[in-house]
Amino acid sequence: MDQIEIDTVSGDEITPWLEDMARLRLQVFHEFPYLYEGSFDYEADYLRKYARSKNSVFILARVNNQVVGAATGLPLRDADPEFQEPFTEHGLEVDQYFYFGESVLDKNFRGRGIGHMFFDAREAFAWQNKFRLTTFCAVERPESHPKRPSDYRPLDKFWEARGYQKHPELRTSYNWLDIGDTEETAKPMVFWIKKPV
Ligand SMILES: CC(C)(COP(=O)(O)OP(=O)(O)OC[C@H]1O[C@@H](n2cnc3c(N)ncnc32)[C@H](O)[C@@H]1OP(=O)(O)O)[C@@H](O)C(=O)NCCC(=O)NCCS
Repeated sequence: MDQIEIDTVSGDEITPWLEDMARLRLQVFHEFPYLYEGSFDYEADYLRKYARSKNSVFILARVNNQVVGAATGLPLRDADPEFQEPFTEHGLEVDQYFYFGESVLDKNFRGRGIGHMFFDAREAFAWQNKFRLTTFCAVERPESHPKRPSDYRPLDKFWEARGYQKHPELRTSYNWLDIGDTEETAKPMVFWIKKPV
């Protein structure tokens, strides 16, 4: 089996990897539940915040020097306002949270523990940088969504096993273009926060 290399890059070091990140997001987020039509223009705009943040992080999974997966994170205070607002509205201190953006892995490399490594590496980075709490948010699609594959397995159990708890009161929405649509629509998203140990 091919050797998987996991690397952590942060701040300015992420710039050379933005294109790989965009490629993986376009490839993986085509799948349910994201159904993201995507474009390199949207990607450039979306990924700009990582390039701007001094404490952003990319975790890269490489096989034979090819990036086959990546996960991202940045301080919540450097994330888009849509992601900060639910916290401030609920009296939570944005500065304490490190926000995980996405984990995207080529299908051929799933089920080999890379998803766990993405969490381990981002949590380690957050704690080294003195963030007490880690959080991410997940898109909500109806159970009856016509594009939901019959064998789709939600990641909720995985996230719970990692110590994360769903916070239905912390919700936001984020716009993107669904496959087959002509206009972007707002997607409901719910936050998960790691329970302090
Ligand atoms: C999320 C993702 C990065 C996980 O990667 P992975 O390397 O397959 O994950 P791991 O092998 O570390 O397995 C993690 C857990 O996922 C679960 N899992 C494994 N295969 C799964 C599958 N086919 N479907 C759903 N869950 C699965 C298991 O609970 C597993 O934990 P366990 O082995 O301790 O029981 C990958 O599935 C992916 O890119 N998915 C599409 C994009 C996505 O949904 N990203 C997350 C939100 S941005």
